[in-house]
Amino acid sequence: MQTHLREPWWIGEVEVPTRVVLAPMAGVSVQAFRRQGRRFGAGLVCSEMVSCAGIEHRNERTLDYLRVGRDEHPLAIQIFGAEPRVMAEAARMVEAAGADIVDMNFGCPVRKVTKTGAGAHLLEDPALACRIVADVAAAVSVPVTVKMRRGVADGSRTCLELGPRFVEEGAASLTLHPRSARQMYTGYADHSLTAELVELVDVPVVASGDVTSRAKAEAVIDATGAAAVMVGRGAQGNPWALREILDGDATEPSREEVAAELIVFIRETVRELGERRASGFLKKFYSWYLGYGRFPKPFKQELVQIHDTEDVVTRLLAAAPGAAELVARLEAERPDPAGEILLDQLPISIYGGG
Ligand SMILES: Cc1cc2nc3c(=O)[nH]c(=O)nc-3n(C[C@H](O)[C@H](O)[C@H](O)COP(=O)(O)O)c2cc1C
Repeated sequence: MQTHLREPWWIGEVEVPTRVVLAPMAGVSVQAFRRQGRRFGAGLVCSEMVSCAGIEHRNERTLDYLRVGRDEHPLAIQIFGAEPRVMAEAARMVEAAGADIVDMNFGCPVRKVTKTGAGAHLLEDPALACRIVADVAAAVSVPVTVKMRRGVADGSRTCLELGPRFVEEGAASLTLHPRSARQMYTGYADHSLTAELVELVDVPVVASGDVTSRAKAEAVIDATGAAAVMVGRGAQGNPWALREILDGDATEPSREEVAAELIVFIRETVRELGERRASGFLKKFYSWYLGYGRFPKPFKQELVQIHDTEDVVTRLLAAAPGAAELVARLEAERPDPAGEILLDQLPISIYGGG
């Protein structure tokens, strides 16, 4: 293994302290997720995709708006849209809100997004995609990056054609999720394409797709020459995966640790989304988290039935009384929310993906 996963690297002038990037995931990458990712060693965290449509017409159904906290940096904020001028304006707003990097989504395969010409659809319209990259790069002084799929159709190699062009237009890094848009999340990420892309460009490439362990992270970096790996589904309800990837520490989290992380996650998410939205939103996280910590099976089902999130917290503390002290410590370390910036011109899309 040539590259140590705790070595820093750079996107433009932004120093990224480790080689693990936490993936943008719509409906998952809330602030609590990004903060937790940073605490567990992710060198860079990314917001889920925010919609440029919010700038011009504010009628899009949204989940929420993005909050940026002081402890999230370096933070990439991902924008999506299909109009260069609007994307450039969104990039300026995102930079003003404190993004260290502006990332563009050229990978979302969800029809609601691609039918507007955005997401993975842009891989079918190279001229427009290049103009978006050029205009966004010209609009801001922070580095701009592109996250893409291999192409739209199965077996597509479009990413290899477009990647170098995006770099020419000003992209300071490329993230490749080498599945086709049509594949959604089936099959596997073909990182032989990532290796080819690395050969073609002189900017850092981030390898996204199916990295869930240290062994896989090392294998992907060795085989591709990528600057870093991105971890998505492997970190859902499982920040310990980041610890294992970075340090090889495969210690199972204790029940107290799992309960404490989940409680902090619940409370932060309620603060961010409000109780009404958070109580539904969090249910998938209960299932994810309680896969760890050896909780009795019926406990999981029980939590999902509870509506009030503080009742969930009470149940977790009853099942793992030692968690209270850990929660107090984690909450004491959290910075004052007063310094946060709310990006309320750019709604988070509920249709996301990549
Ligand atoms: C629920 C979910 C939501 C996602 N949302 C986004 C998104 O908003 N923007 C994006 O670029 N990719 C998105 N992705 C793709 C991931 O960032 C990542 O590229 C993909 O999941 C492959 O990595 P993994 O195997 O580590 O999960 C999403 C993936 C999932 C599973």
